[in-house]
Amino acid sequence: MKRTSVTFNLNEPLIFERSGPAKTAYTLPPLDVEDVPVEEILESKYLRQEVQGFPEVSEVELIRHYTRLSTWNYHIDLGMYPLGSCSMKYNPKLNERVARISNIALTHPLQEEQHSQGNLEILFKLQEALKELTAMDAVSLQPAGGAQAEFTGILMIRACHLSRQGDPRKFVLIPDSAHGTNPASAVLAGYEVISIPSNQEGRIDVQELAEKMTEEVACLMLTNPNTMGIFETQIEEIAQIVHQKGGLIYMDGANFNALMGYARPGEMGIDVLHLNLHKTFSTPHGGGGPGSGPVACKKDLSRYLPVPRVEQEGGRYRLNSDEPASIGRVHAFYGNFGMAVRALCYILTCGREGLKELSGMAVLSANYVRRQLEEYYELPYDTPILHEVVFSDKRQNEKGVTTLDIAKRLIDYGFHPPTTYFPLIVPGALMIEPTESHSKEELDAFIEAMIAISREARDDPDSVTSAPTTAKLTRLDEVGAARSPHLRWRQ
Ligand SMILES: Cc1ncc(COP(=O)(O)O)c(C=O)c1O
Repeated sequence: MKRTSVTFNLNEPLIFERSGPAKTAYTLPPLDVEDVPVEEILESKYLRQEVQGFPEVSEVELIRHYTRLSTWNYHIDLGMYPLGSCSMKYNPKLNERVARISNIALTHPLQEEQHSQGNLEILFKLQEALKELTAMDAVSLQPAGGAQAEFTGILMIRACHLSRQGDPRKFVLIPDSAHGTNPASAVLAGYEVISIPSNQEGRIDVQELAEKMTEEVACLMLTNPNTMGIFETQIEEIAQIVHQKGGLIYMDGANFNALMGYARPGEMGIDVLHLNLHKTFSTPHGGGGPGSGPVACKKDLSRYLPVPRVEQEGGRYRLNSDEPASIGRVHAFYGNFGMAVRALCYILTCGREGLKELSGMAVLSANYVRRQLEEYYELPYDTPILHEVVFSDKRQNEKGVTTLDIAKRLIDYGFHPPTTYFPLIVPGALMIEPTESHSKEELDAFIEAMIAISREARDDPDSVTSAPTTAKLTRLDEVGAARSPHLRWRQ
């Protein structure tokens, strides 16, 4: 059965069309002190032409405008958001409450150390918690997201090779199942990328790795679990191959939601790692950001971490910028502080056992979806999965129905589509990551919708290829929207 999705009246006037000179949402009270001079706040010559002529509407129209806009969007507070490789989990409201406490939210980042001890303590405690969860020795909270964290980590690896042999080495090995940002980060840091193919199980081909691992290779960048949701079980052997040739291992740990409490990368031979707070640790993303991508490393590499570092000494917290080997700063101040507050709140609320339980639930949910849907959608790899499942459109394609059509049809059923056409190693990939946030009923509703779409694709393909029918706009020029967006209202 279809869920009711948000419906729109396309003929409804927009706020500019409701504007009228006699309408007012708010009026400043009259001056109550006689000798205060009345000045024009900003002379009109300073106002740009295009920002003049704002709509004049009443308070209720203004409120309805923003409330209406908020209903045109899909969000995690509305329903399941199964975007693979994004861990779109629920963002608990407690995190938001804590982040808004005025002592926390209103501190100026340039405030003296002795006046921001509480804030530094939050950062320090989060670093310690992440060290404990990952078994790494040092953490920086500076990077603003996963991709920037990868860039930071690869710069640290480069600095390490430079200090050891005076040579940064030339190549970075990256499996073809890695997240797309990995090769971009390696190239930005000055490396050439060598791709390692996946084997029939969807894991890195260890034989190929051994052949391609030379003394010119700076590191292997490994997403684990990879973008197929598959755990790299041969990680210890992989680490040995790379280390034997003097290389290092960078682990893209953005998928840590699958491992938390069960496995610690520091015990698998990983040298540098990043986590995405906005995935695993429930801080908002997808328009609600900003993100945060802490970098963690082993002791030998800690001197290359960005500065300033948050440290504790004699019961006091301090910022230390005195590290000549550091790669420097990668973010203003100490990173996106508000995200660190939310993540620490999440960790403390869940506790060690709670985090483990959530990871287990995320894996269980993905496996439940896989088991229920494998009869209807093609599964490119039969290998057991952790937090996400990748199907393809192979069966539906026989009737001319593609992944894009299935994704669009899900909108009609009231769900946000999964990630599409990624990872690239699966043609027509449909990548579903349910996370631990949903009840069995919600998962079942999603599964029912997916099954209904597979039946429609078989019996009535037009109903799928013409979707969505309930959305405000139907098929968009997505490339055009990204390359030349129109961000201003036009008459
Ligand atoms: C496995 C993996 N690595 C890296 C990233 C990049 O992170 P960000 O989008 O924060 O730059 C993501 C993002 O979802 C990811 O899933």
